[in-house]
Amino acid sequence: MIFSRITGTGSFLPGAPVSNDELIARHRLESSDEWIVERTGIRARHLAPPELAASDLALEASRRALASAKRSPNDIDLIVLATSTPDYIFPSTATILQGKLGITNGAAAFDLQAVCGGFIYALAVADKFIRSGSHRCALVVGAETFSRILDWQDRSTCVLFGDGAGAVVLEASDSPGIHATALHADGRYGPILQAAGHLAGGQPLGDPFLRMDGQAVFKFAVKVLAEVAEEVIAAAGKRPADIDWLVPHQANIRIMQATAKKLQLPFEKCIVTVDHHGNTSAASIPLALDEAMRAGKIGAGETALLEGVGGGFTWGAALLTL
Ligand code: ACO
Repeated sequence: MIFSRITGTGSFLPGAPVSNDELIARHRLESSDEWIVERTGIRARHLAPPELAASDLALEASRRALASAKRSPNDIDLIVLATSTPDYIFPSTATILQGKLGITNGAAAFDLQAVCGGFIYALAVADKFIRSGSHRCALVVGAETFSRILDWQDRSTCVLFGDGAGAVVLEASDSPGIHATALHADGRYGPILQAAGHLAGGQPLGDPFLRMDGQAVFKFAVKVLAEVAEEVIAAAGKRPADIDWLVPHQANIRIMQATAKKLQLPFEKCIVTVDHHGNTSAASIPLALDEAMRAGKIGAGETALLEGVGGGFTWGAALLTL
């Protein structure tokens, strides 16, 4: 039987961290460091300068993941890149990344759009490709420049997000690796978190900025993250006590605390980077995973539950041994 296993991780954050106070001063927001920290856990985020696009962030994260997996770019036969802030309408950011990495072997490459649920979707898709036997060495990336779709006059959203990228190399293996994945979506909840702009006749129409009903998102996220965690633990034939680490989407520390509580996991088992990354959407989980692995916090052979939720709404989880 073929399984898939993460063999390398990498991440990249653009520029210097921007503190809450700096952001508040820069945009003359009626807010405070105290409010933001208390309601979200966020203290700082990174913001990409105008010359850097999602593919540039993805490139650095991918180079680091390839180096940690001891792979060269042409070993990759599949790129799945999750983003809601692509470089262009087309070509896909995955193929732009492929070009920048110098991959010339004809590897398949495509973008996947599931907003903050994107990395889990990308990981599950790559896992299924590898399990099918069609591909053996995938680059799975989450890369975002959410700062480009923020309304800096809307204090209830602009303080929450940051830019960045994370990547993993996922390879065929005789043993798991990924034990189980679960993916879900419910389009009825689209309006509570959306960026509803579009193009018509070559002109941007509608509202291009992210809009959110924060309280509705909060309730929805806590509910589905607990449900999908239980689902994937059961599908893997494990128990919550078998989980060494929870690596959740980094949206809000209170969502993470509520999820850990519902799973009866001590919060010390939860990897937290939202305090210094903010919410980097599809990039947040691989960023958190890479940071924890490089810091020696998560060790090889340990079991991690990765889970995400985002606009659409989409949500999912993956249970894996590292
Ligand atoms: N600074 C100061 N005050 C603020 C700010 C701010 N940055 N933002 C909102 N407020 C004000 C509101 O205007 C409101 O004022 P009012 O009472 O005078 O009307 C007051 O604070 C309370 O607003 P609420 O929306 O009720 O605050 P809440 O405690 O719900 O916190 C928050 C808002 C942080 C957005 C919260 O609802 C939340 O975290 N929701 C989850 C959303 C999330 O994480 N989204 C990320 C994207 S989705 C995803 O990744 C899954």
